[in-house]
Amino acid sequence: MGTWKDKVVYQIYPKSFRDSDGDGYGDLRGVIEKLDYLKWLGVDYVWSTPFFVSPQRDNGYDVADYYQVDPAFGTMEDAEELIRKAKEKGIGVMFDMVFNHTSTEHQWFKRALAGDEEYQNYYIFRDGEPETPPTNWESKFGGNAWEYVPSLKKWYLHLFDRTQADLNWDNPKVRDELKKVILFWKEKGVEGFRFDVVNLISKPEKFENDLQGDGRRFYTDGPHVHEYLKELVRDTGIDQMITVGEMSSTSMENCIRYTNPAEKELAMCFHFHHLKVDYKNGDKWELQPVDYRKLKELMMGWQQAMADHHGWEAVFWCNHDQPRAVSRFGDDENYWKESAKMLATAIHLLRGTPYIFQGEEIGMTNAGYTDISQYRDVESTNYYEILLRRGKSPKEALHILNERSRDNGRTPMQWSGETNAGFTHGTPWISIPENYHTINVAAEMKDEDSILYYYRKLIALRKAEPAVAEGNIEFLEETDPQILAYRRSLGDEEIVVINNFGNEKKKLDHPAGGAEYQILLSNYPDQEKGEISRLRPYESIVLKRTGKKN
Ligand code: GLC
Repeated sequence: MGTWKDKVVYQIYPKSFRDSDGDGYGDLRGVIEKLDYLKWLGVDYVWSTPFFVSPQRDNGYDVADYYQVDPAFGTMEDAEELIRKAKEKGIGVMFDMVFNHTSTEHQWFKRALAGDEEYQNYYIFRDGEPETPPTNWESKFGGNAWEYVPSLKKWYLHLFDRTQADLNWDNPKVRDELKKVILFWKEKGVEGFRFDVVNLISKPEKFENDLQGDGRRFYTDGPHVHEYLKELVRDTGIDQMITVGEMSSTSMENCIRYTNPAEKELAMCFHFHHLKVDYKNGDKWELQPVDYRKLKELMMGWQQAMADHHGWEAVFWCNHDQPRAVSRFGDDENYWKESAKMLATAIHLLRGTPYIFQGEEIGMTNAGYTDISQYRDVESTNYYEILLRRGKSPKEALHILNERSRDNGRTPMQWSGETNAGFTHGTPWISIPENYHTINVAAEMKDEDSILYYYRKLIALRKAEPAVAEGNIEFLEETDPQILAYRRSLGDEEIVVINNFGNEKKKLDHPAGGAEYQILLSNYPDQEKGEISRLRPYESIVLKRTGKKN
């Protein structure tokens, strides 16, 4: 059994967290400044997205040197200080390992381009004619997934931007190089790792056209992925550390294997099925209202399967690739506070390790940009063009970005109501939503009924109640799509969690199973009256059984 079951992870996107030197970009010293805040919140680990040397085409997910801090973020001393100071405060630091691909600025790729065959074999190059890419696979950021290099008369594979070349994991030298990277940071005191799109590392032996889709079925959870992960974990000795794999379009069966402790692969994984319930026909760039029935079924199905087969999920709504949950699944206009707290409750008391993405704990909303020039993300700007080519009007395309762009999650952290939300003294690299005047850390610190305080209580609850960390899960009220209710139990201890995902009132029969109970937490301050059979819009109630069942 892992030691991370009662732990909570906080995700930092350093570029947008806190700028200490006024250049408009967040940096590592900015993170160090805010460690006391994170300690106050009560989180155990901080995962920072990449700050290694990078041309920043994909905000650091295009790494040019795994061993150096990008000067835009600070120095190696800053990284070391961050690790040390966090540890002193009881917070473990997790770094982000982008091992599916490197930047085309990486030395290995440059040597490959210069004609060195040894380094060409670090990547996936195929001979070919300039007109015909080796396969019809699509890049996740739009367009074909192959790029032609005229000087070599070869194509290379890039599942993401064309400046992110996929590594060839079938080459043992590549695997050894990547192990060295882990050992380097482990030596420096890093306590855990997040592995970027790690279920895409193993490509098929034969590359063929996908006549049914965009190619993902050939390389997702690919042929040797489990073997390569086991080897990586074994040879770097990280099996006792907190590790999380980001799994793109994965399956339950594979996630069980990735995380079942007996397999010695990873501690937990992220999957994204629950974050596609507003994609029309599975297309991120076609809008549809949230399908709450599907959301509920997915959450129930995954939780149950992972529990039955000793898997472990990272549970989350938000990250740097997702729109803000309160704007997406809640109601950021009429029930901002209630729905943000409800969403938090629904996730935090599940079986799994909760992840909080910076700003989520104060209810930050989508960016609300009104002009395409405000967007920075390469995926968003690519897709804006693609949407126009597909026949959308600029207004429609902008509306889609407003809902779907990754920049919704990348706006600067709203620390205060002062200039630039207290994020920077300079000009922020990306615009800050106007609502920072009211939605900010300083304001919520002064208000014990704030979303921020509520997150703090949820984190504390996971530590105070063993059933939350270790208990079984059983879902209650299986039919109503707006209600997500579950019971966590461990020995005699029993916690019942009820969430209303809608803005309508709901009536519930015997939510506590007819037993005596105590209210542990609710997002409506007057709930101590115990009116638990009538739920108000977005209401959450957490009960603890105190007496025997009738
Ligand atoms: C992951 C990251 C995302 C990045 C992509 C390619 O999905 O979270 O930000 O663009 O991998 O590295």
